[in-house]
Amino acid sequence: MRHFLSLNDLTKDEILYLVELACRLKSEVKKGFFFPYLKNKALGLIFTKASTRTRVSFEVGINQLGGYSLYLGKNDLQLGRGETIEDTAKVLSRYLDLIVIRTYAQSEVEEFAKYSSIPVINGLTDDWHPTQIIADFQTIFEEKGRLKDLKIAYVGDGNNVAATLLVGASKLGFDMAVATPKGNEIKNEVISFAKDEAKKSGSNLIFTYNPAEAVKNADVVYTDTWVSMGQEEEKEKRIKDFEGYQVTRDLMKLAKEDAIFLHCLPAYRDFEVSSEVIDGPQSRVFDEAENRLHAHKAIMIFVSLGRI
Ligand code: CP
Ligand code: NVA
Repeated sequence: MRHFLSLNDLTKDEILYLVELACRLKSEVKKGFFFPYLKNKALGLIFTKASTRTRVSFEVGINQLGGYSLYLGKNDLQLGRGETIEDTAKVLSRYLDLIVIRTYAQSEVEEFAKYSSIPVINGLTDDWHPTQIIADFQTIFEEKGRLKDLKIAYVGDGNNVAATLLVGASKLGFDMAVATPKGNEIKNEVISFAKDEAKKSGSNLIFTYNPAEAVKNADVVYTDTWVSMGQEEEKEKRIKDFEGYQVTRDLMKLAKEDAIFLHCLPAYRDFEVSSEVIDGPQSRVFDEAENRLHAHKAIMIFVSLGRI
């Protein structure tokens, strides 16, 4: 058993294995095969933030694997009334077999994992979104047939999704260029970690304030919302700060002709991405969203059973 809290403690081989397993599980389901790899296993989902994709795909995913799920929203547990994370983790470990947690502070997920005797999966925190990035790599693999010798351009906010993508890309050996506005850069410690990984994998990493420079010759162009969950009150200011960072058709023209556009979703059209890009021919956002289902099944199997 192991936890899945960020991509930092996964090896390149493990990330590639998860993508391969996700592809295998997707093809099995498409052929109508539902193997009960996690028969009778109970998955708990503790979510203090909203979710469409992560929640639904984990719940459907565990059912496809022969298990079942319990959704525990922010008012459902005694945690919200002051019961400690330690006690909650110890108790839930006696009932459940796996837990997905979506919350604000990464430290809460880590504390939970410390006291949990069952695998804890990070379903998004303010710092990381590791389950998302496995599905993203699956989508890139399906489109491009490889997970190396490609350039990813990320334009927008340097928070959870960007940081996790950077760590994953630097481990696998993608080239990656990141364009964020001043004040919204990826955290320095994440950049240093990624630079160390890049030395081993041969990735070339670029950090800039210029979206055009980042997107030039990219194979994949990726963005995320400018207003993440928890930042709603700063919305007006953030929209101003991100002016010039929208992924538009003109910006996409600087990428390779066969470049694809990805977005973790939910998307806010005509803020971080123009409608014509997200709804246009280069967009793969719904394949990407679909792949969450298969990537999550791969992650649940991997943390419970190891390699199968
Ligand atoms: N991309 C993503 O995590 O979507 P949800 O917030 O809907 O789960
Ligand atoms: N950065 C976004 C991602 C949502 C999936 C957020 O944290 O709200």
